[in-house]
Amino acid sequence: MKSFPIQIRLTAWYSVILAVILSLFGLSAYFEMRNSIHETVDEALRERVKGVRGLILRDSQYGEDDVKRELRQHSELAGGALLQVSDQQGNWLYRSASMSDLEIPIASRNFTGPFTFASRDTPFRVVNAEIKAGDQSYLVQIAAPLDDFYEALHRFGMLLLVSIPILLLCAAGGGYWLSRRALAPFDQITQTARSVSIQNLSSRLVVPQSRDVLQRLSETFNSMLERLEAAFKKITQFTADASHELRTPVAVMRTRAELSLRKTRTVDEYREALTQIHTDLEKTSDLVEKLMLLARADYGAEVLQLSSANLGEIVRDACSQGRTLSESKQISFYEQMPDFPVWVKADAHALRRLFLILIDNAVKYTPTGGQIEVFVATDNGSALATVRDTGIGIAPEDLPNVFERFYRADKARSRESGGVGLGLSIGRWIAETHGGTIEVQSSLGHGSVFQVRLPLASGNN
Ligand SMILES: Nc1ncnc2c1ncn2[C@@H]1O[C@H](COP(=O)(O)OP(=O)(O)OP(=O)(O)O)[C@@H](O)[C@H]1O
Ligand SMILES: [Mg+2]
Repeated sequence: MKSFPIQIRLTAWYSVILAVILSLFGLSAYFEMRNSIHETVDEALRERVKGVRGLILRDSQYGEDDVKRELRQHSELAGGALLQVSDQQGNWLYRSASMSDLEIPIASRNFTGPFTFASRDTPFRVVNAEIKAGDQSYLVQIAAPLDDFYEALHRFGMLLLVSIPILLLCAAGGGYWLSRRALAPFDQITQTARSVSIQNLSSRLVVPQSRDVLQRLSETFNSMLERLEAAFKKITQFTADASHELRTPVAVMRTRAELSLRKTRTVDEYREALTQIHTDLEKTSDLVEKLMLLARADYGAEVLQLSSANLGEIVRDACSQGRTLSESKQISFYEQMPDFPVWVKADAHALRRLFLILIDNAVKYTPTGGQIEVFVATDNGSALATVRDTGIGIAPEDLPNVFERFYRADKARSRESGGVGLGLSIGRWIAETHGGTIEVQSSLGHGSVFQVRLPLASGNN
């Protein structure tokens, strides 16, 4: 059954249920009609028993012969009614000719209810009664033929037998048509789903305003397509940006090498060319390493090993490198760590990298004579690390984008200082993988503040 299409299965179930209901209805209507025929006939027969009772009670005082004569007259008046009367000993008092033909057995004393009796293929209904007159008691039986009623009942039964299957057929046909109609929109969804490929991720389903499962399904499908399209755009953008960023240093290195090889050079000239190529190669491999990290992070292959670590110590480590960088640019560098350990669940290596990214930016985007401050504290149940600088700041329109991949607020200046715009997106990934957040506040021309908030680990006071 499971291998049949859903329309067929729905129709089959529907037809089976309807067949059971119609059969139950047909059977109960048939038997109800039969019962009411019996009740009506029984009622009429009982009325006639009453007449016979009156007659017997009236005439029994004059002797049995009078009773016999009266019974014969009564029976003839009723058109030779099907009547028989016997005394207690089983002797016939009266037995109409048609009744003796039927050979209906005399009712036993224990059985007085009406019953149906068939004689020569004709059904009869028989009512029994015991009538006491003085010290004698008589058994009376009156019968009536049922053939006319049974004929009507038979016709009714045939009508049910023919009409129920026809009704069922019509209902099954209608059910199949309805289920096909109801399921047709799902076919449309399937067709659209099939036609979706990377080239037309922008195709969408027409959403019916039917407030039902169809509307929900179409909306869910469309929103899934939207997410896929956005994710796909992000990936293609990332690939395009990555290849663009790689092309420039590779082209520069190639030109340098070609120029050096064009004619014979002195050893010093070769050394200088190789040194420049080496510097470019270092930058390129740094870029490739960042790209790899982000790509691995995207598909969940980059897993951080979190263990209890002192945030103050990690930031202090990063600061010692930052201090060297800032000294070379004559920028004053201040750090302030708490005199107690601030325990966080961290991958110390990754977290150190996050603060190096922030300190590197602060140094890169702060002119000579500026100032950088780094401090760690606990705040509102979480660990808070801040990197503040008095640098060039970020314009409000750039602020929401600085964590995006390859985003540089000031492209010329950033490239000049060797930036590709990946630092902060790696930083945000590290912060979020630690269950934390990273936020920035900045004012153009006055400086920026980056804040990393991490959940405190157990063990803090
Ligand atoms: N402290 C800061 N002051 C001013 N601008 C900043 C600061 N930090 C980041 N920015 C701006 O945000 C952009 C993105 O920073 P991000 O660290 O992601 O890239 P980058 O420094 O240009 O390159 P990378 O870090 O990959 O070498 C920078 O190009 C810069 O315009
Ligand atoms: Mg940077």
